[in-house]
Amino acid sequence: MQHSAAIAALQFYVDHGVDIALGDEAFNRFVQTKPEQTVSPEMPQTPQVQTAKTTTPLPMGKNQARAEAVKLAKAASTLDELREAIAAFDEIGIKKTATNLVFCDGNPNAPIMLVGEAPGADEDRQGKPFVGVSGQLLDRILACIDLDRTQEDAQKAVYISNILNWRPPGNRTPAPAEVEVSLPFIERHIQLVRPKLLILCGGVSAKALLDRDESVSRLRKTWHDYLPVTPELREGAGPIPAIATYHPAYLLRTPAQKKAVWADMLSLQEKRRECGLL
Ligand code: URA
Repeated sequence: MQHSAAIAALQFYVDHGVDIALGDEAFNRFVQTKPEQTVSPEMPQTPQVQTAKTTTPLPMGKNQARAEAVKLAKAASTLDELREAIAAFDEIGIKKTATNLVFCDGNPNAPIMLVGEAPGADEDRQGKPFVGVSGQLLDRILACIDLDRTQEDAQKAVYISNILNWRPPGNRTPAPAEVEVSLPFIERHIQLVRPKLLILCGGVSAKALLDRDESVSRLRKTWHDYLPVTPELREGAGPIPAIATYHPAYLLRTPAQKKAVWADMLSLQEKRRECGLL
């Protein structure tokens, strides 16, 4: 293949979200053999090829992986310890394909914490949540109600994290098993930050943290009392008012829903006032 054709093919993959290699070895499909093929003495033997190694969602199995996540999350008593615990947790396959752990951004003293879904390509590259195009829209939405993740004044600041700390390959939706093993970590994260209010950004975040099956369009508009879904983290936990809203990535595809998010932000303003945060 010519150099320019190879570059064009690579660009095509990147444009379509195929921007990571799932196998350590290149996979030559021209010499692929059927696994069950019986080789008769007359048949010429085709070279044996190595099967590409793909990542399995949970190498250890769900129950064991979850138990390990709970143990590590519970043992963390500071945000730095929690970040180290997540980095040390190998029982989630997407860790292998991600470049950086994406833990948080913003002011940890902020009374408002926003939880998104999972890092995308830009977040994976920079190791920070919501730094790509949807993050830029999120910043503009928050600015409308005078919130800013870079603010040192905690009253005007916001703290940001995600349900998943690693980027799912090709930005696919997180698998339910990945959400389940990540939940103890984000719930411990919330416990350590102790926000007064929570914004659950998008369906994955709202469903996971409210332990509900309904869509975000059903979960938004009302305030929920968030309590840890992980039973092992419930001791001593008090309810935190939580609002679900549409994810900015959804707004980029469906701008007509911006008015719904504006209504959610006005509701957040009202709650801030009610809680003496304004
Ligand atoms: N979408 C999310 O939910 N989180 C990010 O960090 C980026 C995009």
